Amino acid sequence: MRDGPVDSATTSTEVPGANARTMILGGNLSFATALRCKECGKLYPVQALHVCEFCFGPLEVDYDYEAIGASISRESIAKGPLSIWRYKDLLPVEGTSYVDLGAGYTPLVKAERLGKYLGLNDLWIKNDTLNPTGSFKDRVVSVALTKAKELGLSVAACASTGNLANSVAAHAVAAGMESYVFIPADLEVAKVITTTVYGGNVIAIDGNYDDVNRLCSEITSEEPNWAFANVNVRSYYSEGSKTLAFEVAEQLGWQIPDHVVVPIGSGSQLTKIHKGFSELRKVGLINDAKTVRISGAQPLGCSPVASAFVEGHDFVRPVKPSTIAKSLAIGNPADGVYALDVVRSTGGSIAAVSDEQILEAIRLLASTEGIFAETAGGVTLAVLMELVSAGKIDKDERTVVYITGNGLKTVEALAPTSKVSDTIPPSLDAFMEFLRKKRSNVLEGVK
Ligand SMILES: Cc1ncc(COP(=O)(O)O)c(C=O)c1O
Ligand SMILES: [Zn+2]
Repeated sequence: MRDGPVDSATTSTEVPGANARTMILGGNLSFATALRCKECGKLYPVQALHVCEFCFGPLEVDYDYEAIGASISRESIAKGPLSIWRYKDLLPVEGTSYVDLGAGYTPLVKAERLGKYLGLNDLWIKNDTLNPTGSFKDRVVSVALTKAKELGLSVAACASTGNLANSVAAHAVAAGMESYVFIPADLEVAKVITTTVYGGNVIAIDGNYDDVNRLCSEITSEEPNWAFANVNVRSYYSEGSKTLAFEVAEQLGWQIPDHVVVPIGSGSQLTKIHKGFSELRKVGLINDAKTVRISGAQPLGCSPVASAFVEGHDFVRPVKPSTIAKSLAIGNPADGVYALDVVRSTGGSIAAVSDEQILEAIRLLASTEGIFAETAGGVTLAVLMELVSAGKIDKDERTVVYITGNGLKTVEALAPTSKVSDTIPPSLDAFMEFLRKKRSNVLEGVK
């Protein structure tokens, strides 16, 4: 299907069914012009559609980049809110009634200590653990539900590996929408609690994420007024991840990095970070013509895209996940082939790491930079380390690692190996004895 001939009739710039509403609403401009099939190029109006009726390819938002270029500037962005909405012109929404808990504008940290440990001179961490519900999903959900409301959809829903559940439940409250969140029944306890607290419907499915996702696709046909963030409004939802590229460029003083390392679940985030960097060039916000190398990270227990990369395939063979990185446990990734294309075309790599490496990387990040990542962050950092050992990252490359979720949600992964230094009675003598032992151990080189 992917390599099939492109019918020129379907790539016309005329959008069937498009109307003035697509471009102008209540004085607010949207620069989104159409949805384009990623496979055959057929164009659709900016409506509640996500799949091509001709070839079943996914639809992606197209924009009038010339008009955006004429409207946007570094200065206009600087005057915007300290959230993803400062990049509104590059997002597919019309009005300014955002469903907004403050997603985005998270710190980009120069990782001096971690860089030194790894022998990298220009290493940066995009700390997306600091979003309102603790993951980058707040970016995509804020866009998805804002668009869902504009499209007249009334219920917020999703198929989730955990973080999306938190985010949809929270943003639905802000949107005044009822919510239905579907999760695999074996999710981390903290992710379940931090979702149910918002008071929506949380439905645990006795199956894995791929089963949950399939069920949600079926429900979409029954409930046309529901906005499943990552199913029927996926084309809009995924656009939110572009802000991960926009922010990094802005925070580097409108420079693009040489190399970024991104976790892969469905592969959506990785492809949209790539789209984000390309758009900055298209609208003239950056002039640097260099290509950002994009590398992907997967856990060994669910690494269908990494396997395809290593084996040189241009298809992704589904797997049955078994990993502590539950947020990345997607055995049949919807955007896997597109992630492969991006990584190959930019000169990046994809690697997979074991559960032990993931835990070690979580501890390393926490103890060098003071950032506590969830298991997906452990995957991304451990893959960075693999790429460094394999000579695939140069020590002087400006490298950004996307840390996309907060460690407080996956503490149970660390629990079996987490221990306090000592347990002592509440007396000064006992503490001085502890200190004496510790100091003599240090002198003797005992850990
Ligand atoms: C923390 C975290 N990072 C990364 C991902 C992967 O994102 P994508 O499915 O867009 O590849 C997820 C997916 O749920 C996630 O929760
Ligand atoms: Zn198509």
